Amino acid sequence: MNLKKIRTQFPTLRQESAPAYLDNACVTLKPDCVVEAINDYYTKTPGCGGRSVHRYGTTVSRATSDARIKLQKFLNAESANEVVFTRNATHSLNQVAHGMKWEAGDVVLTTDREHNSNLVPWLQLEKEQGIDHRVVASHADNTFDIEAFEKACSDAGERLKMVSMSQVGNLDGVQIPIKEIARIAHDHGALVCVDGAQSTPHMKVDVQELDVDFMAFSVHKMCGPSGMGGLWGRYDLLENLRTIQSGGQTVSSSTYDSIDWAQPPARFEGGLGNFSGIMATGAAIDFLSQYNMNDIHAHEIKLNRIMTDGIKDLPGVEIIGPRDPKYRGGICSILLEELPAHDIAILLDEAAGVMVRSGQHCVHSWFNARGHSNGSLRASAYMYNTEEEANLFAETFSEAVHAFTAK
Ligand SMILES: Cc1ncc(COP(=O)(O)O)c(C=O)c1O
Repeated sequence: MNLKKIRTQFPTLRQESAPAYLDNACVTLKPDCVVEAINDYYTKTPGCGGRSVHRYGTTVSRATSDARIKLQKFLNAESANEVVFTRNATHSLNQVAHGMKWEAGDVVLTTDREHNSNLVPWLQLEKEQGIDHRVVASHADNTFDIEAFEKACSDAGERLKMVSMSQVGNLDGVQIPIKEIARIAHDHGALVCVDGAQSTPHMKVDVQELDVDFMAFSVHKMCGPSGMGGLWGRYDLLENLRTIQSGGQTVSSSTYDSIDWAQPPARFEGGLGNFSGIMATGAAIDFLSQYNMNDIHAHEIKLNRIMTDGIKDLPGVEIIGPRDPKYRGGICSILLEELPAHDIAILLDEAAGVMVRSGQHCVHSWFNARGHSNGSLRASAYMYNTEEEANLFAETFSEAVHAFTAK
């Protein structure tokens, strides 16, 4: 990967005082092509796709269809009609959770390291519809416990309906063996929904190869625009899924007392679309598709090794997940028992332009269960980060820890 060439394509990285942006697990920076696509929509063809047939409308309809095909290829989906545009991964996961038919007692399994977006919808269904949400405990180092999972599947028996898990955790960067999980879940007659918010931006994700049923993802974590996400689902499942946003676009016709639902994906894309976002999604996928996703993954691990080695022996500091960064992708999430994570994050930015995330990263359940109310400080690398930036993080973080410890 030619880092110099990559970096020149990002407006924020061309600035003289470009930050060391290491908050990529939250949202990534945007390359020129994405910004231009947004601008093009508003300045050249600000029409409505899918409905209007004038030039603006037709251009937007074509661009929407192109963007869908790009995502289909990126994820190796069988058909572009299996790709639904959503607002974010949260919207996608809610579409699955609230779109399925449930009976009281149906079992849904998640891990103990889920983002709220793959926990709260199931908790809501538990309270409102009586499903039985169960948590599969990870090993002590946060890696996946396949034996505990197999036991949870057997314990649930015929009531097991859904296994919904994040392929890579935003808490720690730990990846779980989704293909094996899918095989076991399917053997038990359950569906598999993958929260791919932290996997699709950083590694090759092939939905057919993984043999899963749904994949939710965040386009804004893939160099794409904010306000955009996606849901891939097996077509036969999408055909039987209830839309959580009915209205314009979701029907092929209606009468005063009947609905003729549109086929997927239109059924799930109610209301006027985020067309600038959809067009910019196409640009983001074009941008990412120039690179080998395995190279991006390897680059992130290389940077994480620098960050990890630079901070791992500091007093009062513990990295969440396995010690070896090869199991944590680009994420270095640090538990600070006594030290103030937010204060350190502000200091890193003000003193050295190092941007990281502090807090509980929407994985409150994991922190609460362990009494870590202080949260963690998380540095997360992406394709455009450099070794200098990783070193800068390690150095400035070490200085901050020493400064706060001396107080
Ligand atoms: C693992 C994981 N799942 C879900 C989400 C929610 O994504 P979105 O903000 O696109 O709804 C995030 C966002 O950080 C995430 O990291």
